[in-house]
Amino acid sequence: MKAWKVTPDTAQLNLEQQQMNLLGPAEGEVQVRMQAASLNKRDLMVANGTYPGIKEGGLIPLSDGAGEVIAIGAGVDEFSPGDRVVNLFWRDLMDGNSTSDSVAMGGAIDGVLAEEVILPAHALIKIPDSLSYNEAATLPCAGLTAWNALMETGGLKPGQTVLTLGTGGVSLFVLQFAKAAGATVIITSSSDEKLARAKELGADVTINYRATPDWADEVLRITENQGVDIVVDTGGPGTLNQSLQAAAINGQVFMIGVQAGIHENISPLPILFKKLRLQGIMVGNKRMFENMLSQMLKKEIKPVIDQVFSFDNAPEAFTTMESANHFGKIVIAAQAGAGS
Ligand SMILES: NC(=O)c1ccc[n+]([C@@H]2O[C@H](COP(=O)([O-])OP(=O)(O)OC[C@H]3O[C@@H](n4cnc5c(N)ncnc54)[C@H](OP(=O)(O)O)[C@@H]3O)[C@@H](O)[C@H]2O)c1
Repeated sequence: MKAWKVTPDTAQLNLEQQQMNLLGPAEGEVQVRMQAASLNKRDLMVANGTYPGIKEGGLIPLSDGAGEVIAIGAGVDEFSPGDRVVNLFWRDLMDGNSTSDSVAMGGAIDGVLAEEVILPAHALIKIPDSLSYNEAATLPCAGLTAWNALMETGGLKPGQTVLTLGTGGVSLFVLQFAKAAGATVIITSSSDEKLARAKELGADVTINYRATPDWADEVLRITENQGVDIVVDTGGPGTLNQSLQAAAINGQVFMIGVQAGIHENISPLPILFKKLRLQGIMVGNKRMFENMLSQMLKKEIKPVIDQVFSFDNAPEAFTTMESANHFGKIVIAAQAGAGS
């Protein structure tokens, strides 16, 4: 079978297609013919070697995939050949929080950018009929991170207000989950065109963070100085001061990514005076994933997919991700354009 292997390098994208042999599933394992995989910002960091704890000597990249069960090992009774499945980001995290020992797909171990993978049965979940392979493949990292922040850790309630930054994978899931939970959503973007699309998805208020660099002031103005109950901050130190400023008294700010730099000074005063909760989120566990899937089924939530690339065009998917023009998720499918 074919697999893509990345050799981390800061200077260039070293992605090479290789032929590999799989021995078949051992006891407790499942062999899956991959139908789709999706990219996350992290996969670019894995490729350029800046992500911590990457497997030595290169690896099969991507943490998020979906496919069809083609063989099961001894002792596996929850899956049969033909089942449609999606994998976990943290391979063994059934419940609770990740630790330094947790094993991340496409980082500490090989990922899913291969025609076939073999995983422990516990690392897989059946895909509801309402989701295609491409859609399911967007969920293990970006979807679950948004769900964990808002619903599992944040305990979002109807009528609360959520602020999410940018229109990438995580932020659009935040928008969709928050609207489905009955919240008001404010979303920022560098692009008016993307903001118009976010409105179509249900965003209540949109702010262009390029045209309005002091976007926290705008959030406070819109909320009549109350601020928002939950901020999902995908920028990191470069956005965190404004996220803290935009939060309401007793609000929660979830720190998800550091794409807007890591060396800014953060003022602790809003945390103190407004009694804020500042909480990091690292994806989520299997129990949360199952909760997310049942809510997606109930509320008919469909992930937003920007573009689908064929397996053989995987390097183009990486460069498209790097250009940051996407809205939502970038998917690599076994067959380009395949929707199921
Ligand atoms: N902690 C976790 O568990 C976890 C899980 C998933 C992702 N992440 C992290 O979260 C971040 C987002 O991930 P993603 O997969 O959603 O990435 P993505 O799909 O590439 O989305 C990135 C988007 O963020 C927006 N953005 C970039 N710089 C910004 C800035 N300075 N201020 C506001 N928005 C900005 C841009 O939106 P516009 O084009 O609309 O401006 C960009 O398209 C990354 O840092 C990633 O590593 C963390």
